[in-house]
Amino acid sequence: YITSITAAQRLDSRGNPTVQVRLTTDKGTFTGLVPSGASTGIHEALELRDTSSTAYGGKGVKQAVLNVTNTIAPALIARYFDVETQLKEIDAFMCDLDGTKGKKKLGANAILGVSMACARAGAASLKIPLYEHLRLESGSLEAPYILPVPFFNVLNGGVHSGNTMAFQEIMLAPTGAQSITEAVQMGAETYHALKTVITKKFGPSATGIGDEGGFAPPISKPSEALDLLTEAVEKAGYTGKIQFAMDPASSEFFREANYNLGIKDKTSTKLTPDGLADLYRELIQKYPIVLLEDPFAEDDWSSWSGFMQKGKSLERMPEIVGDDLTVTNVERVKEAQEKGACNGLLLKINQIGTVSEAIAAANLAFSYGWGVFVSHRSGETTDDFIADLTVGLRTGHLKTGAPARGERVVKYNRLMDIEDELKARGEEVKYAGVDFRTAHGKVA
Ligand code: PGA
Ligand code: ZN
Repeated sequence: YITSITAAQRLDSRGNPTVQVRLTTDKGTFTGLVPSGASTGIHEALELRDTSSTAYGGKGVKQAVLNVTNTIAPALIARYFDVETQLKEIDAFMCDLDGTKGKKKLGANAILGVSMACARAGAASLKIPLYEHLRLESGSLEAPYILPVPFFNVLNGGVHSGNTMAFQEIMLAPTGAQSITEAVQMGAETYHALKTVITKKFGPSATGIGDEGGFAPPISKPSEALDLLTEAVEKAGYTGKIQFAMDPASSEFFREANYNLGIKDKTSTKLTPDGLADLYRELIQKYPIVLLEDPFAEDDWSSWSGFMQKGKSLERMPEIVGDDLTVTNVERVKEAQEKGACNGLLLKINQIGTVSEAIAAANLAFSYGWGVFVSHRSGETTDDFIADLTVGLRTGHLKTGAPARGERVVKYNRLMDIEDELKARGEEVKYAGVDFRTAHGKVA
């Protein structure tokens, strides 16, 4: 049983306040540190911030902290929930306590910190690793455990950096590795090769990085980014073994029914939805792109559906992942399936605000035969929860930034720990590889 819950305001990787929860049971004290996005979708659950205060520029989370200590803590403790078996009930109880659809009263940041800490407390109480506890919670297949392809975001644009590239993320996916440990090595070596390529082309001052640890050189066109990656992969010796992915995060440059790729340098490089779709198809033909996230804006449904339809006649189509579109929310996932908008779900626990609702969203996506792509946020912490979540749910792929910076590598390091731990226990361990989208084994 839970004996105490405390919370505090701490910093995230961008230097903004975030919520830290500490939850105590007779087995110990367990934490949850909440991440925060910059290119947030309008349909996400509410991240409660102290907008009326001048502290931290209105970004304080003192009210969310108070909501944990004064409202959630006494109510939860009084209920004597069993953390071993009742994560769903605990999460549902907090949702009821909030009483609004988007967690607008208590804040998704307050609720999620408690939910994460409860999951950890449950695992400790059952004396099993967190990934195993989350697997049991999700009803995912038992053996073998599948280690994900790590998608390394090595070029940052959009609202994550100060260059003029409208597209937010350009990623490396070492699908040709044999293990997560080898994939991390391939990613890190290519990241360093990329730094050399950028230095040669733009000089050493161009190797500054964006919010997720990727470089942010003075480029604006997606083809320039993909050319840099091609050169870096070749230089590192991994041609054919590392593929590419993109998250344009296009809601950020969607204006009056058009997409403005010149939004950051104030030039107007407007594309119609059809024009943008043509650009994607060109890039898909030219480069080994295996995943495309948020190609269109969060409510531009017809562009999503049209792109998926046309993709059927393409020789090669990447996984099309909804992020701002679907916001880890079962209602939006259902709508996307009905409209044939995508075939992959980005899974961000703070978009919905509890661990069990995120698991429900993943399971619904699996039932449609979609892929599930676990994700960090651009504002992160040293919490490594999502590494265990990825393995527990068997999603086969995740993105958690560059293979550099503490708040990013802590997740990749945890995944390598899990791989080592499973091997030491003599368990069969698989690396998802090229079949990352269907690794969960629940494809209809
Ligand atoms: P965010 O970016 O965390 O700033 O929302 C990540 C993403 O768009 O996938
Ligand atoms: Zn995204």
